[in-house]
Amino acid sequence: MDASERLVAVAREARERAVAPYSGFSVGAAIETANGRIVTGCNIENASYGLTLCAERVAIFKALSDGHRAFVRIAVVADTDAPTTPCGACRQVLWEFGPDMEVVIGNLTVITARHRLADLLPHPFSGRLLNR
Ligand code: THU
Repeated sequence: MDASERLVAVAREARERAVAPYSGFSVGAAIETANGRIVTGCNIENASYGLTLCAERVAIFKALSDGHRAFVRIAVVADTDAPTTPCGACRQVLWEFGPDMEVVIGNLTVITARHRLADLLPHPFSGRLLNR
């Protein structure tokens, strides 16, 4: 089992903890830090639907709040045949802390896609633009 397969396995476990009573669509994520730590996330929905957070952002926000700042890989798992690729908001948040990170997407049994984050978000908004 290689590093991305291990990360997908951890994301599958995180998916079991999804709080998704409104969509019924459970997602798990696992993000690997530059120094080899793994932090998990799952989607968390709310009765005020717009407050929902995707699994990817839960994972990276948990990791950031633990002090991690650089990431090499994220795994995303949902029960779909076609790859569940991260939404635009998650791509933007992830990009700021790891433009070169690998995005590994899986379902309950196999890996369905692998991407570089920079390929998924070719023209990100960059904080560099704020230094006027
Ligand atoms: N969702 C994620 O957690 N990650 C994705 O990559 C796609 C969508 C969640 C948000 C919402 O709770 C549910 O899936 C349906 O959109």
